[in-house]
Amino acid sequence: MKRIGILTSGGDAPGMNAAVRAVVRVAIFNGLKVSGIRRGYQGLIEGDIFDMDVSSVGDIIHRGGTILQSARCLEFKTEEGLQKGLDMLNLFNIDGLVVCGGDGSYNGAYKLWQKGFPTIGIPGTIDNDLGYTDYTIGFDTAINTVVNAIGNLRDTSSSHGRANIVEVMGRHCGDIALHAGLAGGAETIIIPEVNFDIDEVCRKLLQGKNRGKLHNIILVAEGVGKPYEIADAIKEKIDMDTRVSIIGHLQRGGIPTAFDRIIASRFGNHAVELLMEGKGGRAVGIDGNDIIDVSLEDAVKPNDRLNKKMYDLAQVLSI
Ligand code: ADP
Ligand code: F6P
Repeated sequence: MKRIGILTSGGDAPGMNAAVRAVVRVAIFNGLKVSGIRRGYQGLIEGDIFDMDVSSVGDIIHRGGTILQSARCLEFKTEEGLQKGLDMLNLFNIDGLVVCGGDGSYNGAYKLWQKGFPTIGIPGTIDNDLGYTDYTIGFDTAINTVVNAIGNLRDTSSSHGRANIVEVMGRHCGDIALHAGLAGGAETIIIPEVNFDIDEVCRKLLQGKNRGKLHNIILVAEGVGKPYEIADAIKEKIDMDTRVSIIGHLQRGGIPTAFDRIIASRFGNHAVELLMEGKGGRAVGIDGNDIIDVSLEDAVKPNDRLNKKMYDLAQVLSI
């Protein structure tokens, strides 16, 4: 292993820069050369590849987004696209690759590994939807953004005695809604992993109103969708005034929290360690406070990662 490549792919996540910084600096500290690949698999296919040094990653640990930029690249899902990627890795004398991204990016990384190319995944997605790791880079920052938004909405919700429906991100996963809802004291959390009953939501709203509660925050994960339908149903059933806020990409940016910077740095370090040990086809993660790695094959398997105990607790605390 003489030269490693690093790319960020899929939805960006605050803290990705800290991971890139760690990969570059740990590699250089250990005598390796590093190639940065811009715009994920798209840049790989196009050969948008450049040499990185210690200064390339200066002054980025505190910045959201990714200095390597990201992309969604449909061509890489094809056999021809994959082959183009492998050809570019050979052309630039890259011996091992670190991919920081979510489950889609991991599928691409796994295909490279199946072709025999040493590839390591670092979990970078605000969704926290990879089952093998307790946390993914960006999730902690995203939930703090949502908790701040809930605080603002709670003020105006109280002033008007409304139900504020708040849609948060999470393509197939309710983790952002669940964690931010628990931390923000949301009255109701609606996530794709659990069926919801609109009558139950309305009953709870009325119970709260009857005991003098003024604010009502209903968090809906993007994977459930339909925030406007939910708002209309509440208005129709109990004649409560409603407003909808879709937080959207505000959750994808911002200064990464200390937690995200720390796990990103630790993940980056471990990814380089694995490549130096001659390993590939692994995904790094965190279990409790331990940095772990599992096979990419296992990492991309569908998972049911709902923390039912946490969900039940959120229900109890919002009675
Ligand atoms: P994320 O990594 O955040 O889940 P995507 O699902 O959009 O984001 O995946 C990012 C990129 O990973 C895709 O644009 C594509 O280039 C690559 N990718 C996704 N799925 C596959 C697949 N099955 N095979 C090869 N590459 C894939
Ligand atoms: O996977 C991260 C995520 O932010 C999801 O929560 C969301 O569904 C998706 O990416 C949006 O992606 P984009 O708008 O970048 O296409």
